[in-house]
Amino acid sequence: MKLAMAIGADHGGFDLKNELVERLRADYDITDLGARTLDSGDDYPDFAEAVARAVASGRAQRGILVCGSGVGACIAANKVPGIRAALCHDSYSAHQGVEHDDMNVLCLGARVIGPELAVELSRAFLEAQFVSEERFIRRREKVLAIERQALQGGM
Ligand code: RB5
Repeated sequence: MKLAMAIGADHGGFDLKNELVERLRADYDITDLGARTLDSGDDYPDFAEAVARAVASGRAQRGILVCGSGVGACIAANKVPGIRAALCHDSYSAHQGVEHDDMNVLCLGARVIGPELAVELSRAFLEAQFVSEERFIRRREKVLAIERQALQGGM
């Protein structure tokens, strides 16, 4: 069975997102959550939220977000509980972030990297698996504890 992946982008990432969909669709079950049309007035939090909620709910196993820099989408996605999003423009981080940190959303900057690297990073991210060693589980649990505390209104 193909891995289920949700993808989204604002106007800054629109063209790269479409290229990623085309080039990855043979190998992954992709849900494209927009943008559907190029609109210079659209806002990255809308697409980041859609992809993050798809992943957090389990409708998608992984998410990819593309905006101009990748930064805004990453900040927004991480506001959704259960999301561990990161901006990775090198292949080591793209797979190690999954292996050690259980990263579930990859963020890319279309104004920073080209399509060939974006495809390579996406594949590295999508093929990587969390390594269930005690130290990685322990660290992930500490991250989740910070999230739980914030959700309960604690700082
Ligand atoms: C949109 O122009 C741009 O600000 C956005 O795509 C992104 O780079 C934000 O981080």
